[in-house]
Amino acid sequence: MRTIHLASDHAGFALKGLLARHLESRGYAVQDHGTHSTESCDYPVLAHALAAAVEAEPEGLGVLICGTGIGVSITANRHPGIRAALCATELQARLAREHNNANVLCLGARIIGDELARAITDAFLDGHFAGGRHQRRLDRINLPA
Ligand code: RB5
Repeated sequence: MRTIHLASDHAGFALKGLLARHLESRGYAVQDHGTHSTESCDYPVLAHALAAAVEAEPEGLGVLICGTGIGVSITANRHPGIRAALCATELQARLAREHNNANVLCLGARIIGDELARAITDAFLDGHFAGGRHQRRLDRINLPA
């Protein structure tokens, strides 16, 4: 059973729970990295925890949620092994996998509705990296160490 990593701040807490149930109904296992309540918290802590977990797995995948999706995407993309894509449409989510081999989907809980969030998550998880010229471009993203 494939595991999907999930994390959010307080603004994304409710959507995280909804997506966890949705993913489990689709046959995925979910690893929840928090937060675990609507008490105010700092999104970088959660985004770093999820990014580290996804980076540690060869084919790891995760979903990160904050109010806008922006803070968690900025944070996750500081990890060299993370390609985090902030998506507000199903097309963006599908192409994030196909072209960018994105391994973290970022969502803005205050930007999109629950139904769209579910559809975007499905499009992301059902997408497949196309390789070829896209791999050449990915190889040019990270700055030299
Ligand atoms: C929290 O109020 C909010 O700033 C956070 O969820 C996120 O939108 C940051 O990018």
